[in-house]
Amino acid sequence: MKNTADLWLPAEIDKKTAGLTYTENGIGMSGAIVRMYEDMVLKIQPSAPWAEREVTILKWLCGKIPAPEVIACGELEGKTYLLMSRVKGRMACDEFFLDRPEQLTAHLAEAMQLLWDVDISDCPIQRDQETELAEARFRVERGLVDLNNVEPTTFGPGGFKDPEALLHWLECNQPSYDPVFSHGDFCLPNIFLTETGVSGFIDLGDAGVGDRCRDIALCHRSLRHNMYGKYASKEREADANRLFDALGVKPDAEKLRWYLLLDELF
Ligand SMILES: Nc1ncnc2c1ncn2[C@@H]1O[C@H](COP(=O)(O)OP(=O)(O)O)[C@@H](O)[C@H]1O
Ligand SMILES: [Mg+2]
Repeated sequence: MKNTADLWLPAEIDKKTAGLTYTENGIGMSGAIVRMYEDMVLKIQPSAPWAEREVTILKWLCGKIPAPEVIACGELEGKTYLLMSRVKGRMACDEFFLDRPEQLTAHLAEAMQLLWDVDISDCPIQRDQETELAEARFRVERGLVDLNNVEPTTFGPGGFKDPEALLHWLECNQPSYDPVFSHGDFCLPNIFLTETGVSGFIDLGDAGVGDRCRDIALCHRSLRHNMYGKYASKEREADANRLFDALGVKPDAEKLRWYLLLDELF
């Protein structure tokens, strides 16, 4: 991994971290640099709307759900710096939880219920379908879709010809809208658990008011990938469909598919 030891930090963040030791975390896939201090985490990302939104939503979420507290934030030379508290517990994709699928799905359902219980009436960020389709169009038109990070069946024979064709299909097949507070990237590495329950949500740059199915779709896919799919370290007897029972919802296969396909453009 790139050594970032000589990176210049905004003054306030430099002051709060000077002399403290850290390790670099290479888990995320966004390209962010993440420094882990004993009780704090510093996330450094190229300045972008989602980096700004992450700070806004973390401040708004304070006291509403377990999420990092913003300690300091700043911008320097095209990068956004977010110094936040370090969430306790382990990622939901930790082997400990993957080996306990029943406990894991129950905790993930509890996590989602915590989000659904948030009062969205004064939420500062909207992630409705129109907003996301507009951003998807921006990405498709500029060739920003990463075709190396999509499910193998999305494009090509039996799938869509290209991102433009997928976007057109999404625009023509927009599902109903059931707004709740939505995490936006509800995958296992972004949810922290202890043995007794949810300890925190992180990586909230795409969070805001969005459809209930948005998180269910990504959580179900992440469960499949981590328990017995492409990220699994071993064979496991598990069934990601347990999630729907734990949530008490009847899966709407078409709508879940719409959200998974939308995510392919981000
Ligand atoms: N506040 C935090 N507390 C604990 N761990 C964190 C925190 N922020 C980030 N991490 C760790 O760093 C990883 C990457 O950070 P994340 O914000 O998810 O970046 P990315 O957008 O690249 O996925 C997380 O999966 C987690 O392991
Ligand atoms: Mg992440």
